[in-house]
Amino acid sequence: MTTTKTPTLEELHKNAADDFLPLNGTDYIELYVGNAKQSAHYYQHAFGFELVAYSGPETGQRELASYVLQQGKVRLVLTTSLIPNSVISGHVQRHGDGVKVLALWVDDAAKAHAETILRGAVSVSEPKTTFDEFGVVVTASIMTYGDTIHTFVERKNYTGPFLPGYKAAKSLFKTTPVGFKYIDHCVGNVALGDMNKWVKFYEEVMGFKLLITFDDHDISTEYTALMSKVVSNKNEYIKFPINEPAEGKKRSQIDEYLDFYQGAGVQHIAIATDDILHTVSELKSRGVEFLSIPGYYYDDLLQRVGKIDEDIQLLRELNILVDRDEEGYLLQIFTKPVEDRPTLFFEIIQRKGAKSFGKGNFKALFEAIEREQEIRGTL
Ligand code: FE2
Repeated sequence: MTTTKTPTLEELHKNAADDFLPLNGTDYIELYVGNAKQSAHYYQHAFGFELVAYSGPETGQRELASYVLQQGKVRLVLTTSLIPNSVISGHVQRHGDGVKVLALWVDDAAKAHAETILRGAVSVSEPKTTFDEFGVVVTASIMTYGDTIHTFVERKNYTGPFLPGYKAAKSLFKTTPVGFKYIDHCVGNVALGDMNKWVKFYEEVMGFKLLITFDDHDISTEYTALMSKVVSNKNEYIKFPINEPAEGKKRSQIDEYLDFYQGAGVQHIAIATDDILHTVSELKSRGVEFLSIPGYYYDDLLQRVGKIDEDIQLLRELNILVDRDEEGYLLQIFTKPVEDRPTLFFEIIQRKGAKSFGKGNFKALFEAIEREQEIRGTL
């Protein structure tokens, strides 16, 4: 593994000054799904999101239905097609439910589009201005890996619930948040040999920097391996690890994903919490399924990570993983895939100083995934 050092405040300011693509954060993540009404219920009930906006036939939209859910700074959009031959229905037919849009919040969407197109991005939609009684929004989109896109969203002159075309909406039942704060990182899986191509895309087209490299020695078990590089934008609000499969004795989880998703796409969304014990207890009580970790992982945990604030017995019961780097430690856990195809899943992460990605847990984690693959007959 190689890591670049954390920038100083002066370096961050200098970086901000010469950043051609300043990003304020993740604006939203949009999934194309087969049945948005039922997906929206799942994410409200099980994950504690609140419904904040809606677009569909009732709001004059004839071709799609779309539900906007919010918890902390995490905004999830669930969209389905109402007609057979649309980009949305084609996406769902090919990939199953999955992430279509990783939307980035910017101050100037037209400039973000122009700067990235100039550097080789493929345009999906030119800058478009839409408005309603709450003001004006500018959006523009470019391609990234697979059928996934980045949409730049400029909303500084807008006060509505989401975007023009959406009406404010409320959950029909009482939802209780589980403590989600913000998107920590979003991981993409790409085909063997494509990882460096997409790292180069983020570096050259979007001005991102390479944060960390994991090779197949860092990420391997007896049977499977993968490689990963993490890129981030200048202020490090946006972090995108990119995985590709590596040669192993058996088929890796990345191969399995690429088969079932029919190509590259978003593998997992990591959401930050300030209290992972509470968040995971709540999610489990509402039926969210997590990967299970064998008891021996916890037997030597304290020797590996040193003193931690949390009760080890509780971590063991909840199957939460811990890892330490030079700056502190982190706690993390991974859900099982949230749809029938073994594709998209979620990570819940609590950072206590650590800025890394849980390298010390990779082995235990991948063995847990291999056990699931074994059951599915895809190892
Ligand atoms: Fe992750």
